[in-house]
Amino acid sequence: MQVETEPLAARLLAWYDGHARVLPWRVPPAAQVPADPYRVWLAEVMLQQTTVSAAATYFEAFTRRWPTVAALAGAADDEVMAAWAGLGYYARARNLLATARRVAARGGFPQTVGELRRLPGVGPYTAAAVAAIAFGIPAAVVDTNVMRVVARLSGDPTPPPALRGRAEAWLRPHVPWLRPGDFAQALMDLGATICTPKRPACIACPLAGRCVARARGQAGDLPARRRARPRPLRRGMAWWIEAGDEVALTRRAPRGLLGGLLALPGTDWAETPCRRLPFAGEWEHCPTPVRHGFTHFALELEVALTRLAGGARPRQLCGQELIWVPRQEIGDAGLPTLYARAVEVVTCWQAAAPFAEPAVDPSRKEA
Ligand code: ADE
Repeated sequence: MQVETEPLAARLLAWYDGHARVLPWRVPPAAQVPADPYRVWLAEVMLQQTTVSAAATYFEAFTRRWPTVAALAGAADDEVMAAWAGLGYYARARNLLATARRVAARGGFPQTVGELRRLPGVGPYTAAAVAAIAFGIPAAVVDTNVMRVVARLSGDPTPPPALRGRAEAWLRPHVPWLRPGDFAQALMDLGATICTPKRPACIACPLAGRCVARARGQAGDLPARRRARPRPLRRGMAWWIEAGDEVALTRRAPRGLLGGLLALPGTDWAETPCRRLPFAGEWEHCPTPVRHGFTHFALELEVALTRLAGGARPRQLCGQELIWVPRQEIGDAGLPTLYARAVEVVTCWQAAAPFAEPAVDPSRKEA
């Protein structure tokens, strides 16, 4: 094997100059203009949640509506939560707003990794990425793609999560003083387009000549996999309650999973099935539960449907405030993915088996 002597950064940056992906938050390598820290930070927060192509859609929508950090800081909480709906993990949206407000109040983003880290929701990865990309600080930026690239370059057989710290330590002396942001994004692009999880295209890799895993014929086997722990399954029930042409929604408690977001009313979620109905009456049960993966558990949500008779629109149900929303507007109400799927399931079910007659008056019989 021919041994590479050119610094890793020089080779990688030369490759990036010709191959950088065009992304809406990115300043192209030849442009020589500083990146806007607001756009960099917003993109990085979104990219922790989703793929580059999905993030691009949300990014365009957010920056069209809130072009500056001051504009985002001035937005109403509900508007931002609704615009975030579908990206999942809503604590991030709350932190996003908290950070925007803090940054707007202090007149701009702080410019060191340490100060960036003190912003709500900004972890070591995001702080390093914003510092490097927006402020030209030579920080080692290690996301999942970069961790894989480094595991292969260095031939490190350590599985994640311990691999992350090791990858950072390995990478630090390679980070250049000039263009550290391009260097970080070049590693990300290399990981996304060439040094892919399966069947890496080593033939096209600018760093193949200095890749230990490739030299050992192990590129596709690294990073080593950690044994996945099965996620526990929780179950719950959502209640689809119709009255006239409206459906009852509720707002989840401000803290915790999907905090502050619109939802269907329903039971708690637990590992022991919880199939309680809020009042007696004629309920139909959708045959297909909604399945959703949260970070620490999988959820199976059964949907039970009923229709209220007599124009009743209760304001409260089992301690949950009800918000009555016209059926046709429910798709645009900003429901998070879990409940948007529940709406789909109900819509399919109703198309196949529409309600026969208005049947239940909840004021008559409470269960
Ligand atoms: N993934 C995370 N951050 C990224 C960035 N700035 N560019 C491309 N992919 C990324």
